[in-house]
Amino acid sequence: MSADHLYPVPPAVAQHAHIDAPRYQALYQASISHPEQFWAEQARRIDWMTAFSQVKQTSFDTEQFGIQWFTGGQLNVSANCLDRHLAERAEQTAIIWEADEPGSAIHISYRELHAQVCRFANVLKQQGVVQGDVVTLYMPMIPEVVIAMLACTRIGAIHSVVFGGFSPEALSSRIGDCGSRIVVTADEGCRAGRRIPLKANVDAAIELLGDRSVNQVIVVRHTGADVAWDARRDHDYDQLMSRAEAHCPPLAMDSEAPLFILYTSGSTGQPKGIVHTTAGYLLYAALTHETVFDYQPGETYWCTADVGWITGHSYMVYGPLANGCTSVMYEGVPNYPDITRMAQIIDSHKVNILYTAPTAIRAMMAQGDAAVQGADGSSLRILGSAGEPINPEAWNWFHQTVGQGRCPIVDTWWQTETGGIMVTPLPGATALKPGSATRPFFGVRPALVDNEGQLLEGEAEGNLILLDSWPGQARSIHGDHSRFIETYFSTFKGVYFTGDGARRDADGYYWITGRVDDVLNVSGHRMGTAEIESALVAHQQVAEAAVVGVAHDIKGQGIYAYVTLNADVQPSESLRIELIQWVRREIGPIATPDCIHWTSGLPKTRSGKIMRRILRKIAAAEYEGLGDLSTLADPAVVDHLINEHRRIS
Ligand code: WTA
Repeated sequence: MSADHLYPVPPAVAQHAHIDAPRYQALYQASISHPEQFWAEQARRIDWMTAFSQVKQTSFDTEQFGIQWFTGGQLNVSANCLDRHLAERAEQTAIIWEADEPGSAIHISYRELHAQVCRFANVLKQQGVVQGDVVTLYMPMIPEVVIAMLACTRIGAIHSVVFGGFSPEALSSRIGDCGSRIVVTADEGCRAGRRIPLKANVDAAIELLGDRSVNQVIVVRHTGADVAWDARRDHDYDQLMSRAEAHCPPLAMDSEAPLFILYTSGSTGQPKGIVHTTAGYLLYAALTHETVFDYQPGETYWCTADVGWITGHSYMVYGPLANGCTSVMYEGVPNYPDITRMAQIIDSHKVNILYTAPTAIRAMMAQGDAAVQGADGSSLRILGSAGEPINPEAWNWFHQTVGQGRCPIVDTWWQTETGGIMVTPLPGATALKPGSATRPFFGVRPALVDNEGQLLEGEAEGNLILLDSWPGQARSIHGDHSRFIETYFSTFKGVYFTGDGARRDADGYYWITGRVDDVLNVSGHRMGTAEIESALVAHQQVAEAAVVGVAHDIKGQGIYAYVTLNADVQPSESLRIELIQWVRREIGPIATPDCIHWTSGLPKTRSGKIMRRILRKIAAAEYEGLGDLSTLADPAVVDHLINEHRRIS
């Protein structure tokens, strides 16, 4: 089957969908020609405490830069996700929590979630947290992380969720950057039967921070493991909760008040704290969740993303809860205890909508049809994919084997910075092409430019930019607004640059080709080559390192590290293992290098810039067509590298 094979919208889906093809056309047109009117209309899905006076005041021009939506308005995110559902669906399940070990699901109703969130909001207040404070959450995939996020929003505190797979070093730099004095964590996390020492990692991170440090740690007793305890600083979650009142009025927050910070990797330097604000983000998450997944009241929805990433924020927490949806939250990994786990969860909770990542799909696909052996799967209606390009082979497998040829797949392109889904099919409106994210969502104006910034028309391939603002977009980088403007709005003047390349076909469909900068996407985890390089060179025997991505069957991209050792050090198997462990310790297991390539020298220009283009090609065993080598300081380096690569592979 060719990649361009067209899957028409199943009539049964179109018939009952929120949006069919004519409606998509009409609404998309309206959203582009009259954005203020369109978004004012959509803003009715929010419960406002104070009405807004202006819809959109935005400029991407670096001279008069500004992004403001729904100015003058006030609202509370937790009230929109909880309180307003109590009248109609207090007893409906909000979260079905499925533990790492099978067989112990917990149902939490909207009423219970509301009460827990109020309690924890009071706990935070008692601990001295006030509006505008940053609370770091370093948590496993347990309901308490959702409770803590919503509790922050209830009192106007800003959460910063740090993925539980990050090392103490990575955690400490994120805590230090946003200056939070309080961390919420658990004794341990559980993944695939293994224990993750979260509390011990927090202790180590605080140690690293020294006196700029955190003065409060709230610990959820999840596994009950014995953990070190500092009575002046550490608090037991249950104890605090048992003393807290279940009533806490939601604070009226300005539309543009910061809602959360989420760290993500860029092409240079340390991860940046992306800042999202209140009204625009919530509205965009809720609208996209409803329309992209065609979520219908009463359906059960499962987003497999970890809460430590943006997908977890927008599509496990805020979008679904704003829409009053029943969501599955799963603590573990797709293939534990075995490859049928996802299918079992789908069947046991009758999941209708499944939103997952290509890396999980490829891991299942690698075992043929074993992943669905003995499964029913008939509850499924809509499938979704996000985080990285999905290759047509994996798309087709997902469609046939998991979706039984019946379920539309929404391949959703977006980023931490965009807050919500940007380019995507709508199940009732868009004919699908495997591997294409298809068309822009309402209010989104994608375009392609060449490297000089010239707009490309019609069928073309180039850099993907966005011409105008949308409500969900990030507003800043924490503590460094000029870096925000510099990173996203200066490469091409007056437009938002995504960092991705894309192709637009004759039907106007977009095909994301991947990052055009030095950002890797490993199993859907976004990582900067610069971070991994600085971890490597921090090892005392390493002189220099350059990291590139290399195609990987399951992970999408693998990490290929060129390493030059100090003159007096010989490469060895034990040093290779040590370096791999070192990077895991510095950043976390997601940054584990797949290959260490010892080399005596890296290809550099005369001005000393590493020519990554060459390194990428050699890592991919593409020895031909290395392009212009005339600017290399020492052209002989290339032959050495090729010979070394031949020996490795
Ligand atoms: C990539 C994840 C192709 C892209 C939501 C983007 C995708 C980066 C897709 C953002 C997709 C995300 N097809 N590539 N459907 N979705 N990407 O910030 O390179 O973790 O720039 O947000 O993932 O990663 P992030």
